[in-house]
Amino acid sequence: MAEELLSANFHVMDHPLIQHKLTIIRDKNCGTKVFREVVNEISMLMAYEVSRDLPLEDIEIETPLVKTTQKTLTGKKVAIIPILRAGLGMVDGILELIPAAKVGHIGMYRDHDTLEPVEYFIKLPSDIAERQLFVVDPMLATGGSAIATIDALVRRGAAPESIKFCCLVAAPAGVKALQAAHPGIKIYAAALDEKLNEASYILPGLGDAGDRLFGTK
Ligand code: PRP
Ligand code: URA
Repeated sequence: MAEELLSANFHVMDHPLIQHKLTIIRDKNCGTKVFREVVNEISMLMAYEVSRDLPLEDIEIETPLVKTTQKTLTGKKVAIIPILRAGLGMVDGILELIPAAKVGHIGMYRDHDTLEPVEYFIKLPSDIAERQLFVVDPMLATGGSAIATIDALVRRGAAPESIKFCCLVAAPAGVKALQAAHPGIKIYAAALDEKLNEASYILPGLGDAGDRLFGTK
């Protein structure tokens, strides 16, 4: 299954630091404070990889010694789009590396009975059509929330090829569903887990990411 999903559009970040930190937050004894801090740290490490193909251009500068041609970021500016609530936990870590990024919010919760995503809030930068969008949410379970979010962005003018989806833990079913609904977008995960349980929670997973981030259980 894992090989089947791994493609040019799906990247699992198996860096040792990321795997180590993920183990810390998977532990049920990890409290809210550490959970929040470590989600932040993993997000920062993931931002490094997710931003790998941002375009560069040459500019002329002067060092204290000579004139020189060097690289600087160019092209589309970045916006981070957290899926509320849990996606909020990933924003600050990415902003550490890309401090000028704008942030748009999409409120989306998974109905406990139907498991269907329900949109309840949306506020986006006015120029999302011109931006590289990093949609962030720690969990990709059935994929319903991610798909509904990307649908909402595309309806409002976002270019599908400019959207990347970044999560901490992905389930094979969610990756498959997202790939089928939006084949063009790149998906980044810190881990590809085994499966969903009967309530569509990811196994082994890390539980309810929103509750663990905000201490609401
Ligand atoms: C969680 C998670 C994702 C969604 C994933 O949010 O943060 O948004 O579930 O599940 P899916 O792939 O099956 O759609 P939740 O609905 O618990 O809302 P919350 O972040 O407000 O707690
Ligand atoms: N949402 C979560 O927060 N955790 C899961 O395992 C699945 C959906």
